[in-house]
Amino acid sequence: MRTSILVLSLLLSTVCAANESAWDKAHFNYQMFCQGCHTPDGSGANSVPRLKGHVGTFLQTEEGREYLVRVPGSATSSLDNEELAAVLNWILIEFSGDSLAENYEPYKVDEIGRLRRNPLNEVVLYRSKLLADIAHRGDAKQ
Ligand code: HEC
Repeated sequence: MRTSILVLSLLLSTVCAANESAWDKAHFNYQMFCQGCHTPDGSGANSVPRLKGHVGTFLQTEEGREYLVRVPGSATSSLDNEELAAVLNWILIEFSGDSLAENYEPYKVDEIGRLRRNPLNEVVLYRSKLLADIAHRGDAKQ
């Protein structure tokens, strides 16, 4: 009896550790590859835009969704497609706050692979155009 309880609790802790570690690994990769510019809590600074409370806004349009992958910090990072998908999904959950729609679709690995092959060169203008389009859609709905 005692042995089976021990085995069961070992099994349970392995299952929990596997789930936790995917989340922790994404967090770790954010710390290693992104937070130097984006800051630990996603606030950003200077020319680095704030992810916190805002990044989910881009998922309102297809181009915006693609933008989060095609932006050079994502597209040209040394993370592989699976790791980048995990970090972007981690960023969306961790930093979006109210800016993320409840029914959003998390990024998929093959989608990341396809989009990052086409990184953006000129970001600043492209980004402000995207945000203007999104704001305009919001106006049109009201
Ligand atoms: C060397 C600094 C730097 C690093 C490292 C960096 N970024 Fe960025 N990131 C930026 C800057 C600057 C921008 C604004 C767009 C631009 O000029 O490229 C940006 C924009 C973004 C955006 C779009 C946010 C918005 O509001 O426009 C995302 C998403 C993003 N980065 C993800 C990442 C991820 C994921 C990593 C790590 C794998 C990463 N970045 C690493 C500097 C960096």
